[in-house]
Amino acid sequence: MSDYILEMSHISKVYGGIHALNDVSLSLKKGEVLCLCGENGAGKSTLMKILAGVETPTSGEIFIDGKQVHIAKPIDAIHLGISMVHQELVQIEDMSIAENIFIGRYETKNGFIDEKALRSRTLKLMERLNIKFEPDSLVRQYSVAHRQLIEIVKALSHEASIIIFDEPTAALTLEETETLYKIIRQLREEKIAVILISHRMEDIYAVGDRVQVLRDGEVSGEGEVSELSVDDIVRLMVGRQITQQFPEKTNRQGEVLMTVNHLDNDNIYNISFELRKGEILGIGGLVGAGRTELLRAIYGLDHCNGEIKLEGKKIMNRTPMEGLKRGFAFVPEDRKDQGLILEQSILQNMVLSVLKKLSVLNFMNARKENTICNDYIQKLKIRCSGGNMMVRMLSGGNQQKVVLGKCLASEPKVLLLDEPTRGVDVGAKAEIYKIINELASEGMSIIVVSSEMTELLGISDRILVMHEGHLSGELSIEEASEEAIMKLAISH
Ligand SMILES: Nc1ncnc2c1ncn2[C@@H]1O[C@H](COP(=O)(O)OP(=O)(O)OP(=O)(O)O)[C@@H](O)[C@H]1O
Ligand SMILES: [Mg+2]
Repeated sequence: MSDYILEMSHISKVYGGIHALNDVSLSLKKGEVLCLCGENGAGKSTLMKILAGVETPTSGEIFIDGKQVHIAKPIDAIHLGISMVHQELVQIEDMSIAENIFIGRYETKNGFIDEKALRSRTLKLMERLNIKFEPDSLVRQYSVAHRQLIEIVKALSHEASIIIFDEPTAALTLEETETLYKIIRQLREEKIAVILISHRMEDIYAVGDRVQVLRDGEVSGEGEVSELSVDDIVRLMVGRQITQQFPEKTNRQGEVLMTVNHLDNDNIYNISFELRKGEILGIGGLVGAGRTELLRAIYGLDHCNGEIKLEGKKIMNRTPMEGLKRGFAFVPEDRKDQGLILEQSILQNMVLSVLKKLSVLNFMNARKENTICNDYIQKLKIRCSGGNMMVRMLSGGNQQKVVLGKCLASEPKVLLLDEPTRGVDVGAKAEIYKIINELASEGMSIIVVSSEMTELLGISDRILVMHEGHLSGELSIEEASEEAIMKLAISH
C-alpha cells in the first residue's frame, strides 16, 4: 500500500497554446490538510478541477491509494471518494437540504421517495459534524456559509476520503470562518484528506499541515506549515519579497466634493458625511452592518431618501446609469453580480460596455480602445493572452481585476469599492493599493468598504464605521486602530 491516498504525477494542462499547468506533481496523505497557494492564474483551480473530473489533463497520471485511476467526469471522481466544494455553489434552491444532498440517489418505498429515510440519513451525517439544520427546510433560506456546510455534508454522504475547497473563506464572516476551521479539523480527525485553496495566510496557519505553492503553472515550493514563515510562502508565490504592502501616501485632500445628508432606506439609517477631493475614505464594520447598502444607495442601485450634493449641486442617482453618467463607478463585492459578461472579451467588457454607455466611444477609434484596454491589463497585471481573451477563461482573481479596470476606464470622480481585493493574491493586492493611492493623488475621491482591518488602516485617510445600518463613528487615521474600529463596529 502506498503511503499516499492521492498522487498527481506530472500533470500538464494546455489551453490553446497556454500552459496553465506544466509538469505539476502533488501528493496527499490520509487525514492531511494541504493548502494550495499561488498568485491569481497560477493554476490552482485548474489542478483541482482535473482532480474533480471537471477538466481533463493534457498529460499526467493520477493514483489513488497507489492505483492508477482515470477521471474523465465528475461522477468518476465522486466514485473514487473525491468531492469538491466549489466556490460558486451548485445547489437547487427550491429543494430541501436532504433532497440536495441525496439528489439522484433517493431511496424509494413503493415507488415513492422514502422521505423518512432521507431525513434520518441526513440527520446522521449532520450529527458527525455537529451541524443542526432542519433536513426538510429549503436551501434557499440559508446563507453562503451554511450552504457550504451543506456541501460538506453532501461530500460525506458520498463517503469522500478527499475533500477539496476552492477559496471557501473568501465570502465568510470571522465567525463562520471559525466554524469552517472546526469542521476541517473534524474531517482530519476522521482521516479525511483536505485540499484547501486560499489566498489568506490565516487559513494556512489555522488548519494547514502542509503547503504547496504554484507559480505560473509550476510547483515553486512545498513544505510543512510549521516550518514556513509568511514571508517564505509569499516569496514562493510571487518569486520576490514584497517589502511594502501599502504605498507611501502621496494623495492630498482638496475641497469637499460630495456631501451626503440623511441618507435613509430600509437598510441604512440617517447617514451623513462629507467626501473630499482626492480623499480615500474607508468604511469599516461587521458583515451585515449596511456598508454595501450605503454604496448601493449612493450609486443608484437601491432607492433611498435624503440628499446628496456633488460639487455643490443637489443630485440623487435613481439608477446605476445615472450614477455612471454623473461620474460614479462601483466595484461590487460579488463577482457574479459585477456585470461581467463572461462570454465576451476583456476588451469588450472593459472598454465597450462602459464607454458606449457614456457615449464617449463615438469619438474613439479602435486603436484608442486597444490602448486603454492594454493599459489596464498592464497596470493591473491581468494574466491573459491579450485583450481579446474571453473573460470566462480568466482565473477568478483576474476576473476581479477586469471589473476594476472596467470601472477605472470610465474615469470616475467618485470610485466606490466594495471589498476590492477579495480573491486577489498578495502581490496583486499591493498593486491595487498602489493604484488606489495614485488615483487619489490625481484627484479622484474613493470610498472603500473592507472587512480586512489592515487594508482599511493601510490605505484610508479617514475611516467611518457602521453598525446595524447606522454610522457609529468616525476616526481620523491617527486615532484609528483595530481596537478602535472594532469597538465602533459592535455598538453605536
Ligand atoms: N478554459 C480556459 N481557456 C483558456 N485558458 C484558461 C481556461 N481556464 C483557465 N485558463 C487559464 O489557466 C490559468 C490558470 O487558471 P486557474 O483558474 O487555475 O488559476 P488560479 O490559480 O485558480 O487563480 P485564482 O487565484 O485567480 O483563482 C490562467 O492563466 C487562466 O487564464
Ligand atoms: Mg481559482
